Amino acid sequence: MQPDQILSTIARQVSECKRCPLHYSRKKAVPGEGPAQAEIMMIGEGPGFYENEQGRPFVGAAGKFLDELLETCGIARKDVFITNVVKCRPPGNRDPQPEELEACSDYLDRQIEAINPRVIVTLGRFSMAKFLPGVKISEVHGQSFWRNGRLIVPMYHPAAALHQPSLKASVERDFARLSEYVQTARQRGQAAEKPVLEEKEETTGDSPAKDQPTQLSLF
Ligand code: URA
Ligand code: SF4
Repeated sequence: MQPDQILSTIARQVSECKRCPLHYSRKKAVPGEGPAQAEIMMIGEGPGFYENEQGRPFVGAAGKFLDELLETCGIARKDVFITNVVKCRPPGNRDPQPEELEACSDYLDRQIEAINPRVIVTLGRFSMAKFLPGVKISEVHGQSFWRNGRLIVPMYHPAAALHQPSLKASVERDFARLSEYVQTARQRGQAAEKPVLEEKEETTGDSPAKDQPTQLSLF
């Protein structure tokens, strides 16, 4: 199956899913949206009130702020695949529970596999914990980490940032670095396509494949 067919299949399964109790109160499930060829994937927490009404991710106040952040860093929303760790709204926007995260994780895993993004931006703690367990968002936000050949970039959640001026400034600064990270991930992608010998030489040094935060201030 082609990636876009896989994504449609997942979206259909999500809309009918009863794997966890969140299905009882949902109006519309929110599988996520964006191109199957997206280089960047953004993963939030879960649908809120407006997302649950419309079946689309990040369309409420946090979504408006996300749109602004994307615009200022020159990345078009239509080029990004946007989704959440849980696809149905937790009642009253409470935190998703461990069982709900676990029940829903297979959909996100399959979306990532189908899209194969170069960069994954996690928005908030819950999606960050999936890729970077045990870290503190206050210590790692805006940095990048290689995981399975992709750059993981943890950011504060736009909804949290909307309510706290200091976080707002942080998230704006972090987004400003996003296109650097995309460039870095593209360069590494090209390097990986080089002949094997060259690639071997390259990976003996300070390879970004190591699970270290990267400082990309040279760009
Ligand atoms: N907050 C999220 O985490 N996801 C959405 O889709 C909307 C708000
Ligand atoms: Fe299914 Fe995920 Fe919705 Fe739970 S949150 S019902 S696992 S789609």
